[in-house]
Amino acid sequence: MEENKNAGVSPNNGKVRSRFSGKLGYVLAVAGSAVGLGNIWRFPYLAAKYGGGMFLLVYLVLMLTFGYALIVSETALGRMTRKSPVGAFGAFGKSASFRFGGWVNAVIPMLIVPYYSVIGGWVLKYLFEYLKGSTAVLAEDGYFSGFIANGFSAEFWFLVFTLIVLAVLLGGVKQGVERVSKVMMPVLVVLAVFVAGYSMTRPGALEGVKYFLIPNFSNFSWMTVVAAMGQMFYSLSIAMGILYTYGSYIEKDVDIEKSTKQVELFDTAIAMLAGLMIIPAVFAFSGGDPAMLQAGPSLMFITIPKVFASMGFGTGAGITFFLLVLLAALTSAISLAESGVSTFEDQLGWSRRRSTLLMGVVIVLFGSASALGFGVLDFVTVLGMSVLDFFDFLTNSLMMPIAALATCLLVTRVAGLDRIAKEVEQSSSFRRKGMYCFFMKYLAPICIVLILLSSVANVFGWITL
Ligand code: PHE
Repeated sequence: MEENKNAGVSPNNGKVRSRFSGKLGYVLAVAGSAVGLGNIWRFPYLAAKYGGGMFLLVYLVLMLTFGYALIVSETALGRMTRKSPVGAFGAFGKSASFRFGGWVNAVIPMLIVPYYSVIGGWVLKYLFEYLKGSTAVLAEDGYFSGFIANGFSAEFWFLVFTLIVLAVLLGGVKQGVERVSKVMMPVLVVLAVFVAGYSMTRPGALEGVKYFLIPNFSNFSWMTVVAAMGQMFYSLSIAMGILYTYGSYIEKDVDIEKSTKQVELFDTAIAMLAGLMIIPAVFAFSGGDPAMLQAGPSLMFITIPKVFASMGFGTGAGITFFLLVLLAALTSAISLAESGVSTFEDQLGWSRRRSTLLMGVVIVLFGSASALGFGVLDFVTVLGMSVLDFFDFLTNSLMMPIAALATCLLVTRVAGLDRIAKEVEQSSSFRRKGMYCFFMKYLAPICIVLILLSSVANVFGWITL
């Protein structure tokens, strides 16, 4: 027991493993890590691109079934072993396959945080411009593409964002930042409701509301499923080791099912609000131009400034919006980087300082390639994708399905569904146990294998999704 307490991937090596200060503390911490750029930036552009209401429907179904089962599993495994992914897998066996399962989960955050910080840099740049009062300039056509094509500027803001993240990790003020962000979260919700309301009532916006909310089967493609599943992992912080670590910090009295539901509800509500801010605006300001719906990662940066430029107090709204998004992005980036740092600390036995520096090097290397990939390095493509899109694809469509599969196999073949159920039942009755077992045994592995195969086939051009 003593060994259990001290081992694992925790930021406080050698000391008693930290614990959350109660049930609400846990839900807030997980929700704080879940809500980030995934909800505000990534979800709307994927929904716009992959079928609007159809994407939303597939997303909701996957989240309530597959996502639910995986969150419960990862949290329960973390709490059972009191370890983060590498340690949690290692607790069940020492062979190479267990090591692989743990590591694939642990490496994903290290590969996400670099390009996540590039987007964080874009947010910083927009905040800076709103503070300068450039509201009208930001709304001009071509502003965003001009900005990212200027590699120097994108790189500069990326580095500023990265420095803030590293400074917070080294300075030990992580908790302070988290506290601020918790206070800001309700403000973000209120502002998002207001902006969504404004955006939805613009002339022509109703078409966008319909496009986003009403499933139209003709918009369905297999890619809708692939994208929705990747987004579900990303947004809920599943299949990247994070929930093992959080689970290892909770007490036996936390109702895992209930907290999972609360986190899913909150995370989805924010994503849908962001969708309602952005997608109707595409129809109101660009007439639902199909090319605009396909804009991908740039969608938020092109659309939102048009909304702000068209309203009174647009500059104030812009400052508030980008400030809040920045905070959400910072807390997420900090939690992603923290996970990498603690893996280095525990697995390599390095000091916190050295581990943070190594994380910094990884961020700067991979992140710079992503930031410059739209500018001076725009001749570099990997499998036909820009560097940023490649990292996004690599983590979301390839590695996360593998990580999720590893968790499924660990649960069904090694730990046993009964042991997981017992772990959940320590704090409450396991209300959806039957459903949970069915998903873990059949639905999840089949979905994952199908998705993996189709992502790979798509990249190599064997099939077109
Ligand atoms: N879920 C976060 C988002 O939606 C990303 C994230 C993943 C943050 C893992 C922290 C840990 O942006």
